[in-house]
Amino acid sequence: MPKTKTVYVCQQCGSTSPKWVGRCPDCGEWNTMVETVVEPAREGGSRAAPPLRAKPQPMRDIRSDGFDRIPVSMGEMQRVLGGGIVPGSVVLIGGDPGIGKSTLLLQMSADQAAQGRRVLYVSGEESPQQIKMRAQRLGVDGDSLYVLPETSLQQILEQIEQMKPGFVVVDSVQAIYSEDLESSAGSVSQVRECAAALQRLAKSLIIPIFLVGHVTKSGVIAGPRVLEHIVDTVLYLEGDRFHSYRLLRAVKNRFGSTNEVGVFSMEEQGLAEVANPSEAFLAERLPSASGSAIAVTMEGTRPILVEIQALASTTSFGLPRRTANGVDINRLLLLVAVLSKRVGIRLGDQDVFVNVVGGLRITEPAADLAVALAIASSVRDVPVAADMAIIGEVGLSGELRSVSQTERRLIEAARLGFRRCLMPKTGSRVRNVPAGLEVLQSRTVDEALEIALAR
Ligand code: TYD
Ligand code: MG
Repeated sequence: MPKTKTVYVCQQCGSTSPKWVGRCPDCGEWNTMVETVVEPAREGGSRAAPPLRAKPQPMRDIRSDGFDRIPVSMGEMQRVLGGGIVPGSVVLIGGDPGIGKSTLLLQMSADQAAQGRRVLYVSGEESPQQIKMRAQRLGVDGDSLYVLPETSLQQILEQIEQMKPGFVVVDSVQAIYSEDLESSAGSVSQVRECAAALQRLAKSLIIPIFLVGHVTKSGVIAGPRVLEHIVDTVLYLEGDRFHSYRLLRAVKNRFGSTNEVGVFSMEEQGLAEVANPSEAFLAERLPSASGSAIAVTMEGTRPILVEIQALASTTSFGLPRRTANGVDINRLLLLVAVLSKRVGIRLGDQDVFVNVVGGLRITEPAADLAVALAIASSVRDVPVAADMAIIGEVGLSGELRSVSQTERRLIEAARLGFRRCLMPKTGSRVRNVPAGLEVLQSRTVDEALEIALAR
């Protein structure tokens, strides 16, 4: 059989070169040439039509219940996956180094082993001793959990084919390399080639494979983004390294919704599920402190109440500073501008710091009003009413805009004992207000301030 060959393919225009060049000779872009394996041409002309394998079949005859999912004991993980592991699927778990990817996957491996499956944990980064130490810390032990310290893709594929495990983890995809390519492990071409080969094997042996992918800032090591189209499911483990909470978010899922979010906390003995995130996020709140407001945000389909803290203090010299932790800095700048211009709260000589408690990152604008009220509360040194939850997007004219899934948010606020909820006034009445909760509505930030900061 002829040996495989590699060429360099421009990611911009697709032109090829037999050697690596820094700049594409065709389109002139820099650093776009990526080493790629080319399959050797078949003897007797490769243009001949390939033998027929798949046939078109009527949609009516295709069965959708073809896969029985493998259950996962961690309910949060099960939910994010869309109801369990699909055999033959490849799942990428991305995240910053040190966030807990290896911990999560070792816990999952132990769970799979406990369910009676043979599990292969391939580690390209850590020695079996290091993994053993983590396993001891997690209280993990099992006869059917195997560890393979290996970085060669070909060796890994061979071991999987021989052992035929029921569950495989490859930690990490950036640490392994294919012998067919000359580029170093972690490069775009290596990462892609390895993931594609594992995907083919997973499908042919019907084994689920979980890959770890580090998120990296520089382009030297390829991050999970270059793999998103190759794998079936992409989950990101996020959180603040200095806080214990971790969010597992689906960004792509061929077998389920991408709206699901799992909440975990990193404990002494690994990741623990947080069944009641709102309660956890509000646990350390000081109800009478100024500069604090409770926002009702949605993480996927799940409402979570979080405390937003703001502190405004006089700028000592130079330009006033704006610091955002957990909310988008541009959103904060917009809210500061609206507060100065539309509400008349002078922030030109104030440093403004905003923090979302617990290390959560809020991406939806529904928390705008809570951020604005927290800032105003700090400036005026008047606390926001302690029994009030806040929902609403703020527009540039200082108007409040309605947000989606209001009903769910209200139910969660009522469940946590909030008696009032401040939200935007819209044309239609708010329906299905939970018992015990009073809905207060206002049209502008100004009006909302009057209600929330009333003494
Ligand atoms: P790790 O899973 O090694 O992260 P990743 O694979 O994403 O790089 O976990 C890293 C951190 O988690 C490490 O700083 C220690 C902490 N940790 C705990 O707090 N509790 C535990 O039980 C374990 C195993 C780790
Ligand atoms: Mg790791």
